[in-house]
Amino acid sequence: MKVPNHIAIILDGNGRWAKAKGMPRGYGHVKGCANLESICDDIKDLGVKYLTVYAFSTENWKRSREEVEGLMKLFRSYLKKCIRSAEKNKMRVKVIGDITAFDSDIQEKIRYLEDFSKDYKELFFQIALNYGSRDEIVRGVRRLAQDAVDGRLKPEDIDEKVFESYLDTAGIPDPDLLIRTSGEQRLSNYLLWQLAYTEFYFTDVAWPDFHKPDLIKAIEKYNERDRRYGGVKEE
Ligand code: FPP
Repeated sequence: MKVPNHIAIILDGNGRWAKAKGMPRGYGHVKGCANLESICDDIKDLGVKYLTVYAFSTENWKRSREEVEGLMKLFRSYLKKCIRSAEKNKMRVKVIGDITAFDSDIQEKIRYLEDFSKDYKELFFQIALNYGSRDEIVRGVRRLAQDAVDGRLKPEDIDEKVFESYLDTAGIPDPDLLIRTSGEQRLSNYLLWQLAYTEFYFTDVAWPDFHKPDLIKAIEKYNERDRRYGGVKEE
């Protein structure tokens, strides 16, 4: 089985999963968070080098105050626990998205975790927090325009590679496989530039129930597909 180099996951369905069990949505997020820890171990076991997960979008602030506060609490405890997970898996952790919107203690925890794990090379784990692809592109274009105004960049030198270097994912290869759990089949403003050639896999399994066998099934499906990139298919 050919293992994708980079898997991106939209972690969806925590709320519905909890509701189906007669529990509050926050319970689904707690279980979803625990599942994220075990999926990191599984990804490492399978030999995948890059994992990028969508944990909180720029739209998610519109949820109830109670739910947003619950998620912030969860991020605080997760960012601390993730230090151990980074150490165990020799995993570099990077947060993508605009973190300036978070309370300063959360921003500090993010910076600490990124700095602590910066030299690990076994697994590269990106967590999208307050992330939206359009926002990422606009933030990148602002910096690019400033560099042009300041004379550091000539318009004729801008190509795909240069543009990519202004994205939050600079230096990270594009995902080979995108997985979205819990039945929805849309991108929800996730990695719009980076997913240009990516294979998509949608499953009805809710995120808290998505475990190693489901991951293997997704990778098997990925193996069945032709990856032509507009060229000639290999026989
Ligand atoms: C989608 O489920 C999930 C989220 C908006 C949050 C994802 C968060 C986690 C998996 C846990 C914490 C993550 C980290 C990095 C600590 P949903 O609430 O949209 O579910 P629904 O579609 O059933 O309502």
